[in-house]
Amino acid sequence: MPTPLILDTDPGVDDAVALVLALRSPELDVRAVTATFGNVGLEHTLPNAQRLVALAGRPDVPVARGAARPLVHPQLERAARWHGADGLGGRAGTLPDGVPLDPRPAVELMADVLRAATEPVTIAAIGPLTNCAVLLAAHPELADRVGRFVIMGGSLRGGNTAAAAEFNVYADPEAAHRVLTQPEVPVTLVPLDLTLRCAAGADWVAGLAAGGPTGAVLADVIAAYRAAFREHYGRDVVALHDAVALMEAIRPDILHTTPMPLLVACDLGPARGVVVPDGQPDAPGPPVAVALDADVEAVLADIAARLKD
Ligand code: RIB
Ligand code: CA
Repeated sequence: MPTPLILDTDPGVDDAVALVLALRSPELDVRAVTATFGNVGLEHTLPNAQRLVALAGRPDVPVARGAARPLVHPQLERAARWHGADGLGGRAGTLPDGVPLDPRPAVELMADVLRAATEPVTIAAIGPLTNCAVLLAAHPELADRVGRFVIMGGSLRGGNTAAAAEFNVYADPEAAHRVLTQPEVPVTLVPLDLTLRCAAGADWVAGLAAGGPTGAVLADVIAAYRAAFREHYGRDVVALHDAVALMEAIRPDILHTTPMPLLVACDLGPARGVVVPDGQPDAPGPPVAVALDADVEAVLADIAARLKD
């Protein structure tokens, strides 16, 4: 029985790979895609999500508009230097026209999916957590319909944004703290500590491009992201953060997790957005399953196999 899934995303190059991966995997029944601001503004992430659902050949999956900004403090930093101004490496225009926009706001689409579900629904969140936090606040009665959150975000040792934060959490720390410290829904967090170890090399990208027309489009979308990685890290690799996180939703426990209560620094100082393991007895929330290890080659091979046409 496929797992019902809601995918909340800010496409985003690695989101693009994750979205096609999710829509292609028979273990998942993707019931909705919701867009949020993040890598680039919602004016790009939303049509990108619509185009990617069309690319995956899944016009049956509704796509809805989510948050255009964080819950509390404005956070204007985007990631266009990595994902391009259009969010898809400058290649958004080469994708098919997007599927139609669902008229419901993202949180209401999420709520309708949860109400209609007869099995627990996994929510995979691979962008800022604003939509997920609003869902929990607006519909507490539906929390027990969510099987778990699988979240790409955070970093325990050094980040990729600001002083030491990871982008998704830094984009809306208050939303991240709300989701990571609530007791109602189990959380699996896939941080940079693992996703950076799962960076794909040149051979992997070449295999993607040769795997068929969809992989060729994704490899083209990845090209600018790959060049940015090469320039910044001096290595010809691409970290497909979001695709690694989706593999956990697709094959539960493919990633090896460690339970630890967490909190998020929400002050406006240099530590804003940093995820902190909280060893205090009065930690604000229950332990989060933090994915810190995996058979990296097996994960990358599985992603590649699923993206072949
Ligand atoms: O820090 C990596 C995360 O931020 C990924 O989800 C990437 O798409 C960006 O949203
Ligand atoms: Ca993302």
